[in-house]
Amino acid sequence: MAKKDSIVYFCNECGFESTKWMGQCPACKSWNSFVEEKVDKKAIASIGGKATKQTALPVCLSEISTESENRTVIGIEELDRVLGGGIVAGSLTLVGGDPGIGKSTLLLQVCKKLSDADKSVLYVSGEESLSQIKLRAVRLGDMNEKLKLLCETNLESIEEVIKRAKPDVAVIDSIQTMYDEQIGSAPGSVSQVREATSVMMRVAKDMGVSVFIVGHVTKEGTVAGPRVLEHMVDTVLYFEGDRHASYRILRAVKNRFGSTNEIGVFEMNNTGLSEVKNPSEYMLNGKPEGASGSIVSCSMEGTRPILVEIQALVARTSFGFPRRQSAGSDTNRLNLLMAVLEKRLNMQLSDQDAYINIAGGIKINEPAIDLGIVMAIVSSFRNRAIDDKMIAFGEVGLSGEVRAVSQCMARVTEAKKLGFKTCVVPESCMDAVKEIKGIRIIGVKNISEAMELI
Ligand code: TYD
Ligand code: MG
Repeated sequence: MAKKDSIVYFCNECGFESTKWMGQCPACKSWNSFVEEKVDKKAIASIGGKATKQTALPVCLSEISTESENRTVIGIEELDRVLGGGIVAGSLTLVGGDPGIGKSTLLLQVCKKLSDADKSVLYVSGEESLSQIKLRAVRLGDMNEKLKLLCETNLESIEEVIKRAKPDVAVIDSIQTMYDEQIGSAPGSVSQVREATSVMMRVAKDMGVSVFIVGHVTKEGTVAGPRVLEHMVDTVLYFEGDRHASYRILRAVKNRFGSTNEIGVFEMNNTGLSEVKNPSEYMLNGKPEGASGSIVSCSMEGTRPILVEIQALVARTSFGFPRRQSAGSDTNRLNLLMAVLEKRLNMQLSDQDAYINIAGGIKINEPAIDLGIVMAIVSSFRNRAIDDKMIAFGEVGLSGEVRAVSQCMARVTEAKKLGFKTCVVPESCMDAVKEIKGIRIIGVKNISEAMELI
């Protein structure tokens, strides 16, 4: 073996580099995450060295013009909002998601919108052939002349093409297929993914090209390759949703140019992704009437209140150990709320299985839906239906108290807009919503007060 080819071990989780294999990563403490890779050390040093050659001088904050953060509005409102108001010039955005969820479709639609707005766009694909992309593009509608396609996986040639073509926006589909010849390991390996991302970062920052990179997601739900990738880029967007259902949710997990709470809702149909302007209506579609164990609650996703249906099923367990399962919300939270019910309301739940489902497939981790979950559980346990026109939200504490949540006004207004007649809110939020007319608002201090409404 040539001397310069050395074997290095990388942690798949955090990108920690080591000369020997280890069972546990000393940096992120994950087990069995080391993978072996052949790396040409000299090559990496020379590549990495390029960007750091210039000596930078310190500047005063007041002297920096913010003009460089000019944004291009794409025209897909749901995406623009998630990005914080459009694409920032020279930004690097990672779009992650399961295979087949619609990453390529979304980005091709972005390319279409931008080229229609007279921006030059380059779409680099390492996964599909030109004719495959063309076929997909035809489904999405007429494509503009300004959109250039490139099928290439060699990083050096891609960088060269971008340098020559100087597009406004470049899309790299996907980062796991790109490779640098000088690095010995296979495409998709930790060092290749890391190198490819740093090349794209250089392209973005030096030339002011906004770059989108597509990243595949592993079984654990993170972008394959190291976590470092998320640290390197400016914005991380995740595309989630059930692949078998038609809705898709785009979530900003990290955003250097905006808030991270925003979500964008899309629907996949036969002409690509279309925007869902009123997600509440969409999520409540198909809600059963007069069924026990079902209630509507409200969660704030960024600046938007979203109404969701919470379904609970409580049934006698046939084993010694009851099953607790939740889809769309945190299972630990469910366990905690069951314990609160048991202790504070003296309910016999220890021999009951409990299942929670947030209809519509959206994942919610805001504690504001606690009250909804609790009421759904009790409704199913007592087999008594809750009023269809009622919604409930509030955080439930360990002593069974219902605690205040933020943006009460926006939530109640959304409920009223969708035709709900009663709103159960935390007592301490009553002041904030007393001006709203046309909907009955009930304030509750603790869960036993809320139970009287079932
Ligand atoms: P794709 O964008 O290729 O997914 P990814 O790049 O994330 O792997 O999306 C592929 C899926 O989307 C595929 O299952 C077909 C479906 N689809 C539609 O339903 N309608 C359409 O117009 C398009 C283009 C794709
Ligand atoms: Mg794809």
